[in-house]
Amino acid sequence: MTPPIRIAITGPAGQIGYALLFRIASGQMFGQDQPIILQLIEIPTEKAMKTLEGVAMELDDCAFPLLQQMILTSDPAVGFKDANWCCLVGAKPRGPGMERADLLKDNGKIFVEQGKLIDCVAAADARVVVVGNPANTNAMIAASQAKRLTPDRFTAMVRLDENRAKTQLAKKANAPLTAVSDLYIFGNHSPTMFPAFHLAKIHGKPAPDVITDTQWLRGPFCDTVGKRGTAIIAARGASSAASAANALVDHIRDLITPGKIHSIAVKSNGEYNFDPDVWAGLPVQTTTTGNYEILKNLPMDDFAHQKITATNAELIAERDIVKSMLA
Ligand code: NAD
Ligand code: LMR
Repeated sequence: MTPPIRIAITGPAGQIGYALLFRIASGQMFGQDQPIILQLIEIPTEKAMKTLEGVAMELDDCAFPLLQQMILTSDPAVGFKDANWCCLVGAKPRGPGMERADLLKDNGKIFVEQGKLIDCVAAADARVVVVGNPANTNAMIAASQAKRLTPDRFTAMVRLDENRAKTQLAKKANAPLTAVSDLYIFGNHSPTMFPAFHLAKIHGKPAPDVITDTQWLRGPFCDTVGKRGTAIIAARGASSAASAANALVDHIRDLITPGKIHSIAVKSNGEYNFDPDVWAGLPVQTTTTGNYEILKNLPMDDFAHQKITATNAELIAERDIVKSMLA
């Protein structure tokens, strides 16, 4: 019998939490042979903890065979204890008229405390994935607190952007989604991100040879992907939740599947001229469970260089804002 792994999740009583927990418990993230223990961490208010109890009742009522135990807590030191995976979802979402960076002051401090605690109490093989916005910079804040866990253990989610970009290319080319490959996100999870269409393939051919409308690729395509979160907030009155949970399932599943190539935000180390100390969306290949290598030396044209310069500048500006939170 495979021993269970411990998955700590912050914000489990929120929107994304509600779309996420059932998918993890049903085996979609870690596979059908992997028992799990969910360690669910909420804020210490009666409302949040009561909502969490209700969610846990529903999880019980699903009778998921892989779900061995649930720990419900408002004490992060309990919730992160021995966790193998820490999914940091709990944070304020933005509302209409806000950019994700507007959340920095409120959300950033959450990641100071959580980064420290995870470093102290999580399992030796702990991996941390940040979803709470602004995700790249929050991952940098959390990683900066760690003395035991190395920076590569802290990733942030740009997979929602990759999924969005693939769908837009498939629709434009009138091709099935499965025909689109090699689409990677570079930079920040913000409107400055660069969905690198020049590297993408459709039915194995370079995307710009299939979609010859360069103006569309450089303009409406990049804008639609970059501003999709805003469009969803305008339409739904709340930020994306089910698609974000789905992207987190994809992020972690691909990170435990050797050979997979996918976009995640990681410490750049200077690849593609990113500042070496920002967390930038980059294409990586999973090597062994939870480990990855950044794909290096992919070709970049002038347009790509311009886009990367802009998104890198934004990441540096965000880092400057949170300077006092970095250890
Ligand atoms: P929500 O308000 O519905 O839920 C957030 C939950 O987190 C709440 O239950 C809240 O009580 C809890 N929480 C807040 N601070 C916490 C803390 N310190 N510890 C534990 N729990 C805490 O929000 P949501 O829609 O679920 O979104 C959560 C975050 O994810 C937001 O910051 C949002 O902007 C972000 N997000 C990121 C992406 C992405 O692609 N990276 C996509 C969608 C949303
Ligand atoms: C998204 O991309 O949908 C999320 O980051 C939520 C937001 O604030 O846009």
